[in-house]
Amino acid sequence: MSEPIIIDCDPGHDDALALLLAVGDSRLRLLGVTTVAGNQTLDKTTRNALKILALAGAADVPVAAGSARPLVSDLTVAEDIHGASGLDGPDLDVPVAEPVGVHGVELMRQLIVAEPDPVTVIATGPLTNVALLLRAHPEVMPRISRVVFMGGSTDRGNSTPYGEFNIVTDPEAADIVLRSGLPTTMIGLNVTHQALATTEIIAEFQGMGTRLGTICAELMTFFASTYRREFGFEHPPVHDPIAVAAVIDPSIIQTVAAPVAVELTGTHTRGATVVDLHHRTAGPATADVAVGLDVDAFWRLLMTAVRKVGDAT
Ligand code: BDR
Ligand code: CA
Repeated sequence: MSEPIIIDCDPGHDDALALLLAVGDSRLRLLGVTTVAGNQTLDKTTRNALKILALAGAADVPVAAGSARPLVSDLTVAEDIHGASGLDGPDLDVPVAEPVGVHGVELMRQLIVAEPDPVTVIATGPLTNVALLLRAHPEVMPRISRVVFMGGSTDRGNSTPYGEFNIVTDPEAADIVLRSGLPTTMIGLNVTHQALATTEIIAEFQGMGTRLGTICAELMTFFASTYRREFGFEHPPVHDPIAVAAVIDPSIIQTVAAPVAVELTGTHTRGATVVDLHHRTAGPATADVAVGLDVDAFWRLLMTAVRKVGDAT
């Protein structure tokens, strides 16, 4: 039995790996992909999602463009990390399908109501589309099994000292999702910074001997160069596929149920996730917060999927 999922994303180098993992692991059934402005503008993230699905032989998966800007904030893209295209590095000049002609939020709604089993929503970008779905169509909430999102941190941030990019980009959306009452799983920087695309990892992609493997190696080589320049990281962390891996095999992460508040008004901390790991404040847990990661198991899942998709395309 495969688990039905929707991926809401802003590709993005690590979003691309998240999509490949979802396509390549038979324990998941990718119902559709929706895109959001984040790492780049909406037109670019949508085109990038279509390109990755085309490369993965999954052009039949419906893609819909969602929100072009956050709910309240102005959009600030991450061109310093993901480049002008949002997926700089390899030559991704592939013919792509068109996005379906409905808004991403409407595609999510349609897919969820058409699916007999509860659907897991995996979000790897700002949570704008997911928040709009929950607010505009609350009737679908009983049909969503949970929202697993890459975002936030139990400690420091990356966009700002205490804010992680996806949450800083749209704090109000994250606040809506976390207070929705739906089960949520938070995959924050505190775990994603353990999954590094080392030289050996890049060599493993290249050594697959497939076009897809080479493209992954080139994506990670570009990502490494920007993380080195911007953050002084020796190797870049691949955040987003961990959210997908945690759905495929929940044992790869350890979680703690905790109240998570999003700082909406802080002078220096807007977009920070305030994670009450030790329940020092009143209020119920709003997320299962990842606090540990089986790094080797994660890479095995990802490599197996990319190898399989690359061999088949
Ligand atoms: C998150 O921000 C984006 O740049 C990545 O794609 C990831 O989703 C990490 O903070
Ligand atoms: Ca992302």
